[in-house]
Amino acid sequence: MTALIVHGGAWDIPDNEVAAHKAGCLAALAAGWAILNAGGSALDAVEAAVRSLEDDPTYDAGVGSFLNAIGEVELDAAIMDGNTMLSGAVAAVQRVRHPITLARRVLESDYILLVGAGAESFAQSAGVELCSADDLVIDRERERWKAQQGQPGFRGRDAFRAAHDTVGAVALDAAGNLAAATSTGGIPNKLPGRVGDSPLLGSGLYADNESGGCSTTGWGESIMKVVLAKTVTDGLRQGAHPREAAQSGIRYLARRVDGLAGCIVLDRAGQVGWAHNTLRMAFAYQVDGQEPVVAIHQDEVA
Ligand code: GLY
Repeated sequence: MTALIVHGGAWDIPDNEVAAHKAGCLAALAAGWAILNAGGSALDAVEAAVRSLEDDPTYDAGVGSFLNAIGEVELDAAIMDGNTMLSGAVAAVQRVRHPITLARRVLESDYILLVGAGAESFAQSAGVELCSADDLVIDRERERWKAQQGQPGFRGRDAFRAAHDTVGAVALDAAGNLAAATSTGGIPNKLPGRVGDSPLLGSGLYADNESGGCSTTGWGESIMKVVLAKTVTDGLRQGAHPREAAQSGIRYLARRVDGLAGCIVLDRAGQVGWAHNTLRMAFAYQVDGQEPVVAIHQDEVA
């Protein structure tokens, strides 16, 4: 059995961005599915899927990410192998076109999490493509940033709900191995140096062959408090179906910390799950023998 699920972020996702969100999720699904279909690993599949989403300016990841309070992009990403439990993450990097590939190189090193200038130095030594910080900035985000100046900074759970978010993927390969990956530009107008849930194991992602895999999206300051990805995969370990585990995790986040988030889930059998308490979440999935499914709201395929 092989299976792949990807997301292109939660939040309201304005009507005029819905088509681009769906198209980008389908393209990422195809990139990852090609690897699984050729007998490749879940780890390679989630990296390929997330690279595709990082290249698409529709999303808050890679090029097109939100700008921080001083008008710069700062990116976070992480990847986890559910077979070996090896993981790699980077945070607050500025000159990396594909933070998920840098996270993969960290996974292959003796470390788990590298940040800022140190992570960029590591990228150079690991042969990961660097770019100028400006290469990641697009006009849409310059305009959003200008509109935010003179307003209070981060204003909690409703500060950025009209926008879009983080990307991620979870895969199960033919060998029975699971992997998860997540990449983000964080939240708009964030303080320089702010790091959210995405690069943190257990919060932004988790993968364990003994339970399942999960990638999250949404308000990081709430996701971190409930360690959402680990909470959801613990539900799988206890026997819940991925839909049930995802819904239970999001309900807990909402009840306990008044959070807003979404998540995608795969279990060891390749069953898929998703849930969000934001207005929308873009996601797509495919399992062996079935056509791809893409949706912008969970009720579309519920
Ligand atoms: N979930 C993305 C962030 O809060 O940074």
